[in-house]
Amino acid sequence: MAAKKLNYHLMPRKGWLNDPNGLVFFHGRYHIFYQADEDDLQGRMNKAWGHYSTTDFVTYTRHELAILPDSEYDMNGAYSGSAIIKEDTLYLFYTGNVRYAGNHDYIHSGREQNLICVESKDGFNFKNKRCLLSNKDYPRDCTKHVRDPKLFISEGNYHLLLGARLHDDTSCVLEYISKDLNSWKYFQRYTPKKDVGYMIECPDLLKNESNSFIMCCPQGFVKEQEIFKNVYDCGYYKIKGKDLVEYQALDYGFDFYAPQTFYNSKRLIMMAWIGMPDNEYLDIYDDWNQTLSMPRQIEFKEGRMIQKPIDEILSLRKEKKKYCRSFAISKSSNIEFEADNEFVLSLNDIKMVYKKNELCLDLSKCNCNRNKRYIQNIKVNKMSIFIDETVLEIFINDGRYTMTSRFYDSNNQLNIKTEGIKEMITYEMKGVKIL
Ligand code: FRU
Repeated sequence: MAAKKLNYHLMPRKGWLNDPNGLVFFHGRYHIFYQADEDDLQGRMNKAWGHYSTTDFVTYTRHELAILPDSEYDMNGAYSGSAIIKEDTLYLFYTGNVRYAGNHDYIHSGREQNLICVESKDGFNFKNKRCLLSNKDYPRDCTKHVRDPKLFISEGNYHLLLGARLHDDTSCVLEYISKDLNSWKYFQRYTPKKDVGYMIECPDLLKNESNSFIMCCPQGFVKEQEIFKNVYDCGYYKIKGKDLVEYQALDYGFDFYAPQTFYNSKRLIMMAWIGMPDNEYLDIYDDWNQTLSMPRQIEFKEGRMIQKPIDEILSLRKEKKKYCRSFAISKSSNIEFEADNEFVLSLNDIKMVYKKNELCLDLSKCNCNRNKRYIQNIKVNKMSIFIDETVLEIFINDGRYTMTSRFYDSNNQLNIKTEGIKEMITYEMKGVKIL
């Protein structure tokens, strides 16, 4: 199926994309690496690191693959990881995945997940690949699923977090410490007290003035609450001593996973994968599949993470128009309105209903086994909706809540119908430039 390219979201050069990796500001450029499988539209063959860079989040350069799974330590995938800078050298740390042939469950046996490091002086060419830790170095109660290193500096030492699945099917985040980035020692672990799944993927550490948080993707929650309906979850725990408490969902849509923040950037900027592992997707087009979220600036207010599109994204808006009731706009648009009342909004087959302090996103007519997602106990007063062909990013109440999803329809434009909304402002979104 041929499909229109996205306008202002980063797609893979070809083939498959998942998590953003190694997000870093280095030598005046933002580097955005990502999980790339250029040989398989479903991402099952050869995970490598794809690479974009930009100075302004408007014009991007698409580079050659930065890391290939070409050694004995990562031959079945250069999995997710992060970046750190030391003495003007950029270091990327990631998980080298190795699968053994034979009769294995690949949880308790049959797999290696190695901590691997590569380095670069210019941010584009990486060398000196080495394996720094392997499964024998992880605590004994860990299964073979220990991955996704996220690096940071604290009190003059280098630290890294790894998500882990334990033998009793609970999860934790391991922390290692190093003086030189080469030799790593086990330091401590953080354990969820409630909302415990069997695995945590892609941990990241975030701080505000009073608290630290681990943003991550827990797998295997017991799905009692309406908000935890996706295959896996994505949210953040507050760190209390060694405990992870007060889990909050980060996004309330269908497709949001593996968020990571930029290292060494003045603003706290996060990007995520608008997708989810083990989910069904329709966007298996001729030559590409999956996309990254827009870069979002993060702040903490009232103990919650607030997410807003960065200013550079807002600079892509042009042709401001005002509408009420029914109208049609381009499928590369931003729509904003104030909500004083309950409302119903349809964008082609996408339906949003705000009623009795509940916001429902209904994608059941947009294919792919999608039904409804909800935000409960909410007073909606402001909506900002970004549409990019098959991508939907909704920011509610100035980013206090978000709903992110793919959707599929065959219309060339967006037909909009409203009930209960006085006035809507729309902008056409210019595309980013890819060199
Ligand atoms: C999350 C994830 C990571 C892993 C990577 C492999 O989507 O499963 O845990 O490192 O994707 O592509």
